[in-house]
Amino acid sequence: MDRLYHVLEAQQFDIDLIDAIFFTAQEMEQVVQHYGSNILNRRVMATLFYEPSTRTRLSFESAMTRLGGGVITTESAQEFSSAAKGETLEDTIRVVAGYSDVIVLRHYESGASNRAAAVAGIPVINAGDGAGQHPTQALLDLFTIQREIGRLQKITVALVGDLANGRTVRSLCYLLAKYEGVKMYFVAPEMVRMKDDIKEYLQRHQVPFEEVEDLHEVARQADVVYQTRIQKERFGERTGEYEQARGRYIVDRSVMDCMQEYAVVMHPLPRVDEIDPEVDADPRAAYFRQAHNGLYVRMALLRMILA
Ligand code: NCD
Repeated sequence: MDRLYHVLEAQQFDIDLIDAIFFTAQEMEQVVQHYGSNILNRRVMATLFYEPSTRTRLSFESAMTRLGGGVITTESAQEFSSAAKGETLEDTIRVVAGYSDVIVLRHYESGASNRAAAVAGIPVINAGDGAGQHPTQALLDLFTIQREIGRLQKITVALVGDLANGRTVRSLCYLLAKYEGVKMYFVAPEMVRMKDDIKEYLQRHQVPFEEVEDLHEVARQADVVYQTRIQKERFGERTGEYEQARGRYIVDRSVMDCMQEYAVVMHPLPRVDEIDPEVDADPRAAYFRQAHNGLYVRMALLRMILA
């Protein structure tokens, strides 16, 4: 069994390790069908969330529970943990590390997980750090593409929406860059275009990408249309800009009509209005299957870290 320690950023994974995670995730699907396992019996996972979450926190907690482990948790940690009294992240992590065997951290600052990992003394999993990364989401996204499209080589992926602040797309770019023949299209409103660090990384690794404006045109070419929410919480006072960005690209029936029959629409969720609910009934709408896959991938990660 391949072992894992911290999960901090998408670049830390190579293809062999990703294959091992996906193999284990498939086994985990069987485990769930057989009402779980006791492999992580008496292990404790702490989830420390300083930003809102539904899927990420609950799927991690379900994953740990289904493997027989225990969960301690603080949601709204900014408000309900001692951060409200002025405790530093480092001090909180040192203390929580004494109560648990792995810490799953979501924080509003990019780089927070690396800071936590430096002092924890136990494995830290980055469950989203500001506009930085969201590596476990990227793994479940890749797992979903593998399942839905049947391969990871030679695929065309259109990343749509808030590419500047969306940490899921940033992590996904790093993972997709590892596969032969991947082509990416970036479709984003002017003010939230993909940042230079990712573009430079792709250039350095000779991964072809193109920034385009016409979503319908790209939908004809893509195996995967990966839509994202405009990250309102990163705009601060700039509400005008947020309103401008929002509504610029919507996946609706007219976009679906352009897409190939085998192609899929993905979204990390939550969606606001960037995918029309009328698309949900289309078999190519993969976003709820994608969220479901998160359970198996997170079970696999916990198993590989703790078992
Ligand atoms: C994403 C996140 O938190 O970055 N949600 C998730 O974990 N599935 C996407 C988002 O909030 O838009």
